[in-house]
Amino acid sequence: MADAKLIDGKAFAAGLRSRVAAQVRALKENHNLTPGLAVVLVGEDPASLIYVGNKTKLTEEVGMKSVRHTLPAETSQKQLLTLVEGLNADPTIHGILVQLPLPDQIDEAAVLAAVDPAKDVDGFHVINAGKLSTGARGLVPCTPLGCLMLIKDVLGDDLSGKRALVIGRSNIVGKPMAQLLLAENCTVTIAHSRTGDLAGEAARADILVAAVGRARMVRQDWIKEGAVVIDVGMNRLPPDEPGKNGKLCGDVDFDGAKQVAGAITPVPGGVGPMTIACLLQNTVTAACALNDIDVPAVG
Ligand code: GUN
Repeated sequence: MADAKLIDGKAFAAGLRSRVAAQVRALKENHNLTPGLAVVLVGEDPASLIYVGNKTKLTEEVGMKSVRHTLPAETSQKQLLTLVEGLNADPTIHGILVQLPLPDQIDEAAVLAAVDPAKDVDGFHVINAGKLSTGARGLVPCTPLGCLMLIKDVLGDDLSGKRALVIGRSNIVGKPMAQLLLAENCTVTIAHSRTGDLAGEAARADILVAAVGRARMVRQDWIKEGAVVIDVGMNRLPPDEPGKNGKLCGDVDFDGAKQVAGAITPVPGGVGPMTIACLLQNTVTAACALNDIDVPAVG
């Protein structure tokens, strides 16, 4: 069988960002509205510093207002909540993202609950999680939203009746991914660390989304021939692995899987770039909803 089609998330995300930039131009010209995104970072987690830097840069690139708040690692929960309340009340800010993980002294759930659901561009507030699971229109978590876009780019808009396996049950990826696929009329299974026969579950899946955080856990011989494989994993390989030098790798054994799958995302360059592009799209969506205007239609 020919190798799988490579799903180029980097190119897709660049296209999405240029459509968002066109929407931002239209909002400025026709409604005098500049969407604004505030990103809050507490502490100096090295990966978070990189993510937040990329988010700020790309927010500016699409013409939005970008605000960044960097707080020391010893920030109290009260101080963080005060900042979030200020952003909730700021009419120039339409999206608020508090970068996770937060330091131990801060109750993550309390902070996520404090973000105005209308500005919750991460889609992590229980109101938005509830809307997603009940079929109401809300803000949807960025990574699963980006995965769904890539899946539809390969399979078309109608996913009805496809069997989908989501490996991982996090609130950030696994659960919302399963809800999105269910809303598309897929038959969805969520697998996790206690699942008995993961290989058997994978063998039935037309769509497989891996979001577990374990390097190359999904093996070639698990995958159904022709399946669409979406790899959300971002694992750093140990520096002593020959020839790898601490490189990034996914949850899927890419070299093996590409010989069986119909289409597959690489790591890096697959799902990763979609997350920020969807964050920017969510910020436009939030800005329009807060101002009671339609999202501009662009080409
Ligand atoms: N940390 C890792 N991924 C994410 C994300 O999508 N949003 C936030 N806020 N923090 C994260």
